[in-house]
Amino acid sequence: MTKTHWMATALTLMASIGAAQLSSPGFSQGGLATAARAADKAPLALPADRSETMKKFDAVTKQALSGDYETATYHPIHFPPNIGTSNRADCMTCHQEVLTTKPRVESQAGVKGDNVLAWYQTLDSYEGKQESFHWRHLESPLAKQVMKLECNFCHQGSDPREQSPEFTVPKALQTSNNGQVPFTNRKRVNPSETCLRCHGNFPAEIMGIPGPWHEQRADLEPEGTPNGCLTCHAGIRTERHNVTYLNKDGIDKAAENSSDVCYGCHGGRAWYRISYPYPRTPWPDMDKTVPDWAKDRPTKSESRYLISGK
Ligand code: HEC
Ligand code: HEC
Ligand code: HEC
Ligand code: HEC
Ligand code: HEC
Repeated sequence: MTKTHWMATALTLMASIGAAQLSSPGFSQGGLATAARAADKAPLALPADRSETMKKFDAVTKQALSGDYETATYHPIHFPPNIGTSNRADCMTCHQEVLTTKPRVESQAGVKGDNVLAWYQTLDSYEGKQESFHWRHLESPLAKQVMKLECNFCHQGSDPREQSPEFTVPKALQTSNNGQVPFTNRKRVNPSETCLRCHGNFPAEIMGIPGPWHEQRADLEPEGTPNGCLTCHAGIRTERHNVTYLNKDGIDKAAENSSDVCYGCHGGRAWYRISYPYPRTPWPDMDKTVPDWAKDRPTKSESRYLISGK
């Protein structure tokens, strides 16, 4: 996001919460001092549904919204541990653009978006036009049906200067992420603890399936069996998806009609050649001998996501 974008966002927000005096001609990108003075006179209303954590930083937020870009960039809600108890409203105070930005209608070279298809747009589950990455994970009809991602599922702390965990992550939290640092050096999110969960390869070998799903599915999905995954998975590894970031009921409903729903997150949109080492949650009638590949696997979902009582 550029500085100008952020200013525009803050201005829109301020206008929408009625701080009209801030939109006076004197407030431009160069008019920070004017804005700060105006903010002194008229305290800004902050989103009512902001988190308790965010409320602790009201003074900082107001300072940021008055046009203080540096304070906004380093707003403490960005960093652990605060970000862990933040909510979407907190982030949307300043970052509406992540959900409203649209891909270009036409590339700089003149190729119209409508005339090209990325391979993932050819899937039956892909609805509508090309949209932004954030919209596809938070707002698309499919996203809302199968998952409940929030900003802080992927953004667990970043550092605008170093882009490196050491700077902002307290020592005690350095191994909070399944034993790893909560984000990856020089990346804003930790791909192997986020993306890989839903974009890994289909692990056919451990399932005893002789080849990739797209080659094998015909045999496993005869007439009247729309979801061949469930032929086996109605009986094994049945304790699944009891986590806050997925919509278990939505997945089960959608999976009645097609295995593409399951495959979509377990190989169908694989950006990786490996798959995520999922926990192996015990299921009724499970054979107690642990197969070799599963020796190091946890036996329940991470506690920070596990829905208790399940
Ligand atoms: C008070 C305003 C404000 C709030 C609240 C806020 N941000 Fe930011 N954020 C900024 C600004 C300004 C930047 C710097 C943008 C730039 O330089 O491009 C930034 C940068 C970022 C970046 C890029 C950081 C990097 O490493 O380059 C991410 C990711 C981000 N914010 C996510 C979030 C999330 C998630 C939340 C909620 C937990 C949040 N922000 C809350 C204003 C805010
Ligand atoms: C599915 C994971 C995921 C979720 C959920 C998510 N983000 Fe992001 N976000 C990313 C990735 C990946 C990037 C690009 C990171 C990079 O460039 O290193 C990114 C980039 C950003 C940036 C920097 C924007 C830029 O143009 O570089 C901001 C700001 C941001 N996200 C805010 C948010 C907010 C606010 C939310 C919640 C409404 C959110 N994100 C939810 C994964 C996610
Ligand atoms: C909890 C599961 C989940 C996680 C975590 C996740 N994705 Fe996705 N991803 C999906 C689903 C479901 C779709 C299909 C959405 C649709 O078609 O509307 C998708 C679609 C995509 C697409 C294609 C759609 C588009 O228009 O952009 C890309 C690229 C992508 N994901 C990359 C990522 C990256 C990179 C990360 C990690 C930062 C990530 N995903 C994390 C489930 C997930
Ligand atoms: C022929 C039976 C069979 C079919 C069909 C099948 N699976 Fe499996 N699956 C298994 C077995 C066996 C395991 C390993 C069970 C164990 O933990 O001992 C497994 C494990 C898994 C795991 C956990 C992997 C891990 O690393 O822990 C996932 C995820 C999974 N299957 C998804 C699917 C999906 C999605 C489909 C359909 C696209 C599918 N399976 C079709 C038999 C099957
Ligand atoms: C939105 C993406 C998504 C969809 C759709 C989805 N899964 Fe999963 N699945 C996941 C994630 C993420 C996990 C790991 C959850 C956790 O944190 O424990 C998982 C875990 C599993 C596991 C391992 C469970 C354990 O704890 O032993 C199996 C088996 C599995 N899924 C099979 C399926 C089947 C069968 C379907 C279709 C009915 C399906 N999945 C649909 C994302 C998805």
